[in-house]
Amino acid sequence: MFSAAQIKRLKTKPTPFFFYDTPLLLKTLQAMRKAAEKNNAEVHYALKANANKKILKIIQRFGFGADCVSGNEVSRAVECRFPSSKIVFAGVGKTDDDIINALKKNIACFNCESADEIKVINALAARMNKKANISIRINPNVNAHTHHYITTGLEENKFGINTWELPEVMQITGKCRHIVFTGLHFHIGSQVTEMGPYKTLCVRINELQRWFESRRIRLQSINVGGGLGVDYGKPDKNPVADFEGYLRIFKKFLELRPGQKLHCEPGRALVAQCGSLISRVLFVKKGRQSNFIILDAGMTELIRPALYQSHHKIENLTGPGRNKVVSYDVNGPVCESSDCFGKAIDLPETKRGDLIAIRSAGAYGESMALDYNLRPRAKSYMSEEI
Ligand code: LLP
Repeated sequence: MFSAAQIKRLKTKPTPFFFYDTPLLLKTLQAMRKAAEKNNAEVHYALKANANKKILKIIQRFGFGADCVSGNEVSRAVECRFPSSKIVFAGVGKTDDDIINALKKNIACFNCESADEIKVINALAARMNKKANISIRINPNVNAHTHHYITTGLEENKFGINTWELPEVMQITGKCRHIVFTGLHFHIGSQVTEMGPYKTLCVRINELQRWFESRRIRLQSINVGGGLGVDYGKPDKNPVADFEGYLRIFKKFLELRPGQKLHCEPGRALVAQCGSLISRVLFVKKGRQSNFIILDAGMTELIRPALYQSHHKIENLTGPGRNKVVSYDVNGPVCESSDCFGKAIDLPETKRGDLIAIRSAGAYGESMALDYNLRPRAKSYMSEEI
């Protein structure tokens, strides 16, 4: 929701750009911290959702750790003062350079996705005369009921180690003298809006705990990954995700052993709602069946609609006060038919030069930006900079 004064200031900036509402970001982070403290969970923010340095510096102040998936993300987290002791490093394809970089920075833990990866980390750590803490990412075969491109915890997905591979993986891990096995890691998918899949995950983890106990292997940490969804349809009604309800599921259904620590890795839920992609209308075209709005922002700034058919609320910030409502297909300028933010969207009658906000763009917007068509990188502003 933008105030009239804010809209006036937004109009002075060249478009497209990302606008981040700092008070809402702070409110969200406070809610996460409160829920984490209450439920005794350690939070690692998933940088992949948004690695903007201004955002990271704010998140870091809340005492959260970082979840990274590349050497550059590890370096960025360190640069933005996330303590190394709270950085975890996942990813199904870590390169040797990524691993060496993370070992040099003494990160908390590698979340490992295959036996071969564990062997490589062991060899590189041996060469550096170090020991690497690892967790094993297990594919729990739990359906997250989300878009199939962001489902990660099913056997058909490339992620994690299947439970039937565990005996062999644990045998290999036991032989790696530069590896310290610390616990288990999971991530069932993203934009998860029902709590049922997390309850199922808890049941799977409880079974696995018993399996490890029967082999006298101690687990220090259980990392349940990220995935908590946000309300893309009603960002103003539900600006802050229900972190308390989410963590309560684990408190209730996960049978943690004494001394065991619960870790989680939210990305989207911390940053999605505070961000909007602000764009100007370049042209309004009349087709035979639809009216087309052509914006100066497109899939190069926010690829989610093109990639996952996702819906983001679209608002005409200049339009309120105009009585006539018209149905539009809202498109970007990129040479792809999938470069469309929404079809048959009712907006006040729209004209060239109007300012448009595409809401809930704080997660997986800027971080997934492309330079296709040689488009320049969009700038970003925190609300206090506007
Ligand atoms: N941990 C791991 C191991 C992950 O793979 C992910 C996301 C997260 C944590 C954070 O998940 P979140 O809380 O943000 O759902 N580009 C897609 C989302 C891809 C998510 C990939 N992994 C989108 O725009 O919907």
